[in-house]
Amino acid sequence: MKKVALSLLVLVLAAGLAGLGVLWSGTLSVAADEPHSRTLHRLLELGRERSVAVRAARVRVPALDRPELVSQGAGNYAAMCEGCHLRPGVGDSELRRGLYPQPPALAMRTASDPARDFWIIKHGLKATGMPAWGRSMEDEAIWGMVAFLRTLPAQSREGYTTAVAASSGHSHGDGSDAPSPSAGHEDAREEPGGEKPVAADHEGDDHHAHEH
Ligand code: HEC
Repeated sequence: MKKVALSLLVLVLAAGLAGLGVLWSGTLSVAADEPHSRTLHRLLELGRERSVAVRAARVRVPALDRPELVSQGAGNYAAMCEGCHLRPGVGDSELRRGLYPQPPALAMRTASDPARDFWIIKHGLKATGMPAWGRSMEDEAIWGMVAFLRTLPAQSREGYTTAVAASSGHSHGDGSDAPSPSAGHEDAREEPGGEKPVAADHEGDDHHAHEH
C-alpha cells in the first residue's frame, strides 16, 4: 500500500515538473492570432460554460419588457459594446477581427439566456477581452442592455439606428455618464434583479453582499 502511494506521489510530481517544463520552455503560444487546438478550445469552453451556469443560477431576472429599459440599453450598447459585438448589418470590425476568442456578433444569436447575459456583462470573462461592466455600471443599466439584447436579433439596420437615436444615450444608471469605479452599488444588487448570495458563503448574512 505504501509502495503504491509512493509511486503515485512520484508520478504526480513528475507530471507537475513536466508541466512546469513545458511552461518554462515557452513552446506554448499566447499569440491572439494562433487559435487553441480543438481539444483545448473545447475544454476551455466547457469550463467557461459550467462556471457561468453555476453563478447565473443565482441571478434573479426582473421584468425585461419595459420599453424605457430596452431604450436605455440601446444607447449603452451602441456606446460600449458595438465595437466588439457589432450591430445589425455590419459583418466585422477591426477590433473584433484581432481578438481571440472573437466576440460573438450578438445580433446573430439564435437564443440567449437573460441570467447568463447579465452575469457575463456584469462580471466579464477572464482573459477574453470581455470587460466586467459591473465595475462601473448599476445593475439596472446592465439589465437594460440584457433587455435590449433580446430585441437585437429581430432588428434591421435601420431599426437599430432608430432605437439608438431614440435612447437617452450612454448612462450608467447612477445619474452619471462616466465610469465610477468607487460608486457603492450594494443597494442596487438586492433582489429582485440582483444575485442571491451563495448560501454556503453567506449563511446568516442578510446584507445580500456578493463576491467581487
Ligand atoms: C473589447 C471587446 C468587448 C467589448 C467592448 C464587449 N465585449 Fe462582450 N464579449 C467579448 C468577448 C471576446 C466575448 C466572448 C468570450 C468567449 O468566447 O469566451 C464576449 C461575450 C459576451 C457575451 C456572451 C455572448 C454569448 O452568447 O456567449 C455577452 C452577452 C456580451 N459579451 C455582452 C457585452 C455587452 C453588453 C457589452 C457592452 C456593455 C460588451 N459585451 C462589450 C468582448 C467584448
